[in-house]
Amino acid sequence: MIRGAEGFFLTLEGGDGVGKSTLQRLLNQRIVDAGYDVVMCREPGGTALGEKLRSALLGSKKNEVDPLAELLIFLSARAQLSAEIIKPALKRGAIVICDRFTDSSIAYQHYGRGIKKSIVEDLNAIATEGLTPDRTILLDLDPAIGSMRNVQAQDYMEQETINFHNRVREGYLSLAKEFTERWLIVDALQEEGIIVDLVWTDLKKRIRG
Ligand code: TYD
Repeated sequence: MIRGAEGFFLTLEGGDGVGKSTLQRLLNQRIVDAGYDVVMCREPGGTALGEKLRSALLGSKKNEVDPLAELLIFLSARAQLSAEIIKPALKRGAIVICDRFTDSSIAYQHYGRGIKKSIVEDLNAIATEGLTPDRTILLDLDPAIGSMRNVQAQDYMEQETINFHNRVREGYLSLAKEFTERWLIVDALQEEGIIVDLVWTDLKKRIRG
């Protein structure tokens, strides 16, 4: 397993509408103010190719995309993002914060869609050449509340049933409880200032210098 050997690789995970992008923006400010080199990215996307794959996929209609085709598109975008952005940034010692990564595929494509876990794990390892986050924040929220926060412009994934989103949530929670040394579970119902304080305190303990 390759970890962010020189830099530090933090990923943000959770269901739709849990506030990952707000946390990423607020965290970025703290890290820049503290003088660190920080790189932000998101999945799917984060590269020219990845953004095209993102629009192709998220612009699709519900039930139009085959689950395996869907998984492979996420993995393609991930392979490009890892090679083009994440690995070079970690190599030069930066802190990389990615909105979603390998665990999203386990949560959505395995727990949500039902693709065998070992298939998703193996393909994740191939796409990233074994890159694993140093720390993962799970913003945990009841999907019924997440979908209320996300009423405009729902993409085809957000239009999935509440049962699908409940499976994704339970999947995330079981991953986080299995690998407690990597995951931090945060109650996403808390006020955003409290969440960013909590995550920044956790991160400061782990980064060098
Ligand atoms: P996005 O608009 O980025 O949603 P969010 O703001 O909630 O992150 O859309 C990404 C969607 O794709 C989201 O519903 C989660 C899903 N997804 C997967 O199903 N598998 C994956 O591997 C990734 C990266 C995302």
